Amino acid sequence: MSGIAWVNGKFVEPAKPSLGVQERGFLYGDGLFETMRLRSGQPLYWKEHLARLRNGCAVLGISFPHEEICTGVREVSALLETGVLRLTVTRGESSGRGLLPPCDSTATVVVTGYTGEPYPEESYERGFKACLISFPRSHLSPLVQLKSLNCLENVLGRVETSIAGADEGIFCNYMGEIAEGTTSNVFLVINGKLVTPHPECGLLPGIMRAQVLALAESLGVTAFQGKVYPQDFRRAEESFLTNSLAGGDAVGFIQWEACRERRPRSVITDAAPGAAKDIILSMLAGN
Ligand SMILES: Cc1ncc(COP(=O)(O)O)c(C=O)c1O
Repeated sequence: MSGIAWVNGKFVEPAKPSLGVQERGFLYGDGLFETMRLRSGQPLYWKEHLARLRNGCAVLGISFPHEEICTGVREVSALLETGVLRLTVTRGESSGRGLLPPCDSTATVVVTGYTGEPYPEESYERGFKACLISFPRSHLSPLVQLKSLNCLENVLGRVETSIAGADEGIFCNYMGEIAEGTTSNVFLVINGKLVTPHPECGLLPGIMRAQVLALAESLGVTAFQGKVYPQDFRRAEESFLTNSLAGGDAVGFIQWEACRERRPRSVITDAAPGAAKDIILSMLAGN
């Protein structure tokens, strides 16, 4: 994937430094981001991503740089047309040392764009292998429901996933309930009903998760948010992961497949790709 970058109002060389060393996003992960698919110059589910970012800024007390965000996203989208867009907003620069945010910082806005497909085509055919991550998701942390720059738990989880030979790693919380993937939300179909972990289990309420739940409701498919355990994958008819980058067009689906190496930490599902996924997938694609 090659990239372009827009920082605080202008296009910059992606590989050259364009932010100061006092930047709080760099120092403390003091900021938020959104990742979106770009199709024909339009970020998909833009309103929803913007709303989540606005809400996250309010929680963190970062003044929302609405105009600058819209300008950056518009300019990068127009240049890139199709690919992946990442929007990052940080609290800006610290004036001195210390964690306490300055009262007068100006938010930093960075928009980066990448061409190419985020997932290889064949992964949609074969499904995604998933494993359980060895350490728990801190479901009581105020950060867990924010798409914050504090991604180290996810980074460590992704490293474990790679070592396990899987495509996605799934976190449980301290109670052993399924929370979410390192970059995805989890869905199961059990007895024909759609089931997904409740936000209180410790997850980022994904944009695609909300789309799937809304769609299920409009289709009259029973869907509920509750407690899901690793053993539930054994009895699920189907299971899948969602995020904003997965899938073609407007569809954010990854089929979950049996983990071939039956390692102790692996979540096993023998569920075949099935009807619920196909219906929702075609609906989201506008068919
Ligand atoms: C930890 C985590 N959970 C869930 C998701 C899915 O969110 P969305 O559907 O908004 O992309 C992501 C997306 O990257 C994520 O990083």
